[in-house]
This record gives sequence, structure tokens and C-alpha cells, in this order.
Amino acid sequence: MSVRMRKKKNLIPRLEACEALLEREPAGRKGAWRALFPGKERLALEIGCGKGKFTAGTAQGEPEQALVALERVPEALVMAVEKARDLSLSNVRYIIGDADDLREYFAEGELDRIYVNFCDPWPKKKQAKRRLVHREYLAVYASLLKPGGEVIFKTDNAPLFDFALEEAAAASFGILGVTRDLAGSGIPNVTTEYEEKFMALGNPIHRAVFRRG
Ligand SMILES: C[S@@+](CC[C@H](N)C(=O)[O-])C[C@H]1O[C@@H](n2cnc3c(N)ncnc32)[C@H](O)[C@@H]1O
Repeated sequence: MSVRMRKKKNLIPRLEACEALLEREPAGRKGAWRALFPGKERLALEIGCGKGKFTAGTAQGEPEQALVALERVPEALVMAVEKARDLSLSNVRYIIGDADDLREYFAEGELDRIYVNFCDPWPKKKQAKRRLVHREYLAVYASLLKPGGEVIFKTDNAPLFDFALEEAAAASFGILGVTRDLAGSGIPNVTTEYEEKFMALGNPIHRAVFRRG
């Protein structure tokens, strides 16, 4: 049996072993996520969490914040949720789902913060709408954020970063804290799996905060 098949075979029991941290019916939580996290100061969403190093590190480092992590690939998500289970984190939940369905999962103004880390660059111009920082996605994020809420974006891809800055301005976000050298900026940082790979290659990391007016 191939490794790929074995992995698929184990996926369901591995997910079931982390059931308490999975939100299987996210639409049913719409408008009521905070009830899962009594006493937390902020509710944040991470889009495309992958294998979840950032998710677990952020939840651990910011216990006053509740964090919901979204990922559409179950084989990646299972690794993310296992990290949180192994650390006994209680301020994080995971959704297997798609950024295209965010309006089904969250109510207007429900979120304080959205993290987008190293989203797929979709470099061809005709694919621009698929970028998770395209203005159509940013308009959805703006509607889900409360006034003053923030999108925090990181990438190593300079053209994607430039595109994101333009799109954020077009979507009426204020743009703050732009750095093209995160490591040298002194900004506290929790790295992602992709970030570690890009840093090992010597690629500078770009980061910006888009604030809803
Ligand atoms: C390049 S990886 C980055 C993963 C992680 N954020 C990191 O920095 O290591 C992009 C991730 O976003 C996920 N993704 C892409 N489009 C998505 C969408 N529309 N909804 C949910 N997840 C998505 C992919 O499955 C993948 O895990």
C-alpha cells in the first residue's frame, strides 16, 4: 500500500481523536463563536492554516485571544489540529472548509482579526481573483471584521505583497506597519511552516496590517 493511501486511511480516526477541537458545522456557529470562548478579549480567524505551526504558536502565545483556523485540505488540517491537542490548547478551534464560504461561517462584524499567511500567489494575471488578498476577498474580510479590526498578512512574494497593498487600499483598508524585512523589523513573530522554508532560502518576509476604517 502506498504512503498516500495509508495516510488517507488514517485520516478519519486521526480527526476523530481531535474531535473536541474541530468545528464540523461552522455555519451553525455563525454569530455565536464567542460563546465557545468565554472571557476571551478577541476573536481571530486564520485562513489557510496548513499544518498549523502558526496557529498553535499564536494560540499558545496569546491566551487572551480565541483563534479559529480554516483549511480546506484535511490531510494538512489534521496535522494542525493534532498540534493543538498535544499542547492541550483550549482557545483554538479548526474548520475544514473554504475561504469562499466565509460568509456562511461568520456574521458581519464578528471578528477582531484575520491572519492570511503565505497564501498561494497564483502568479498569472488571469488567476488574480483566486489570490486570498484580491479585493473581492478583502471586501468579505472587511464585512466580517468589526470597525478597527485588522487583516495581518505575511508573504515572501514581493509581487504578491505589492498587489495586496493595492487591493487593500482599493477595499478601503488603512495600511499600517508595512515591512519587507520582518526578521529585521523587531516585530514579534510566530513563524509558519512555509515561512521557515522561505527563511532557510534567504527570502525576506513581507508583512503588513490592513485596518478596517
Ligand atoms: C502556501 S500554503 C501556506 C500554509 C500556511 N499558512 C503556512 O504559511 O505554512 C496555503 C494554504 O492555504 C490553503 N488554502 C488555499 N486556498 C484556500 C481556501 N480557499 N480556503 C481554505 N484554505 C485554502 C491551502 O490548502 C494551503 O494549506
